[in-house]
Amino acid sequence: MNSHSLIAPSILSANFARLGEEVNSVINAGADWIHFDVMDNHYVPNLTVGPMVCKSLRDDGIKDFIDVHLMITPVNDLAKSFAKAGADLISFHPEAVDDVDQTIGIIQESGCKVGIAINPDTSLSVLENIITDIDLVLLMSVYPGFGGQEFIEDTIEKIADAKKLIDQQDHPIFLEVDGGINNETISRVSQAGANVFVAGSAIFGSSDYEKTIQGFRQKIT
Ligand code: DX5
Ligand code: ZN
Repeated sequence: MNSHSLIAPSILSANFARLGEEVNSVINAGADWIHFDVMDNHYVPNLTVGPMVCKSLRDDGIKDFIDVHLMITPVNDLAKSFAKAGADLISFHPEAVDDVDQTIGIIQESGCKVGIAINPDTSLSVLENIITDIDLVLLMSVYPGFGGQEFIEDTIEKIADAKKLIDQQDHPIFLEVDGGINNETISRVSQAGANVFVAGSAIFGSSDYEKTIQGFRQKIT
């Protein structure tokens, strides 16, 4: 296994009535990051949770890396609130903001790492002028909004292209893939060059989180 590969369970498929326990369970099962999906019934049709829930996890003693994925518009004020609530990294969709550079600056000033989320129909060219300023590229391998969708196979080529672009930079950038990651798709995603693997339903829908995460690690090259 590549020692720099990270598994990031998405809380979207967790049991929200027992969220703290669920987060502790996946961390104890070997997860690296907690992927925190934020939906607003506006940028995407679904509605999830906001900064208060992130703060509750922190207040409850969760110290692990919280990777916030904002599927919302507007972004700036809530990004600041998530930073205050204990987020470590905040990703946003460039289509959801008026000024991408400004939002990157706001997230950086608030002390968080920055990610850019790229939808299946969005070209990597959105990264052209900003790649030097960001810490993570989040490639969506499903249309954002819901867990449990099927992996879009065209993403594999996009991962390889994003990896090439990242390798040309002078600073480290995580390459995260989100949507439809499971025992069957994770090998190809890894081979194409991703190093952060988001999985919601495949982990939280399994009966043994540790076995599932270990199984993933064995398939990461
Ligand atoms: C989709 C979310 C994903 C989602 C992944 O909009 O961004 O993080 O929870 O879920 P699975 O792993 O079930 O495809
Ligand atoms: Zn996500």
